[in-house]
Amino acid sequence: MKKIRSGVYGLNALMDGGVNEHTTTVVIGSSGAGKTTFATQFLRRGLEENEDAIFITLDETPEQIIKEASLMGWEDVENYMEEGTMVFVDAGGKQFSQFIQKELAEFVDDWAGHKARIVIDPLTPVLWSVKEKYEQRELVSFLLRETRKIGTVLCTLEEHGTVGDLSGPEIVIPMYLADNVIHLRYASHEHPERRELKIVKCRSSKHSRFWHPYGIMKGAGLYIRRKENDTTKMVVEPDLTALLKEKLEASGKGNASRLSGKALTNILRTTELLSREPFSDITPEELIHLILEEYGLNED
Ligand SMILES: Nc1ncnc2c1ncn2[C@@H]1O[C@H](COP(=O)(O)OP(=O)(O)OP(=O)(O)O)[C@@H](O)[C@H]1O
Ligand SMILES: [Mg+2]
Repeated sequence: MKKIRSGVYGLNALMDGGVNEHTTTVVIGSSGAGKTTFATQFLRRGLEENEDAIFITLDETPEQIIKEASLMGWEDVENYMEEGTMVFVDAGGKQFSQFIQKELAEFVDDWAGHKARIVIDPLTPVLWSVKEKYEQRELVSFLLRETRKIGTVLCTLEEHGTVGDLSGPEIVIPMYLADNVIHLRYASHEHPERRELKIVKCRSSKHSRFWHPYGIMKGAGLYIRRKENDTTKMVVEPDLTALLKEKLEASGKGNASRLSGKALTNILRTTELLSREPFSDITPEELIHLILEEYGLNED
């Protein structure tokens, strides 16, 4: 199976190289865990590789998603929309179950032959749109099967109640049906400073089985660290651009030229944005390493 890069810094290495193409991934997390940010990163990474992006939003309007992306420093989302490579489907307030049953097949036909990444954020209301568990399972199963035909699918799931309790039917059903399951553990009230990620399942791949701390920063979005390191009281504002140049040169001049123009522009823009951010839980070197790894520029 072909692996595609997730766009989330540090994640591919935990998933045996990335996400398998034409599979479905479920990202579970409580409110504020970073699900929408994760989903946007995943789509932008595909756009860099000239894949298409379909963002099916059920909770927020496309305008809100675009605004949040801009606040992250990802203004390019608007350009992608203008050129038509990124489309939003505003499914909020709609009878989504009816859309799935009546219009989805046609939608998939329209996109046939495209190589796309599809996000459904969040999937939870889809499950709530029908009553019985067997109906929920049928509906989600059909949705995932159809959308997978046109690309690689990522759905987010809301985690309600106790953080870490994944036993409710609205979580269990999609977990069973998906190929990959990623859990973002975040207790906003008890431990707002602590965010951890685990790969719960990753079909046909040798994946990490541990919890990994992750953070969110403007410019980078989510990044996943390999392990806890001692960054107590570390707050630095580094010159990341200089650091990036140094690392790029060390990785060999030919390597960077393999990147798409969009990818290179994004790496430079990301480092520029990060240079203005305080670093408190990851070292600048570590983050630069993760960014270059995403683009295959670290492999010695
Ligand atoms: N510009 C930023 N800089 C740093 N962190 C940010 C920035 N913007 C958002 N965040 C972090 O990202 C989190 C929100 O992420 P996101 O909206 O992706 O979460 P979510 O899981 O989709 O939440 P919800 O369930 O409410 O939709 C915020 O709680 C905040 O900590
Ligand atoms: Mg969200």
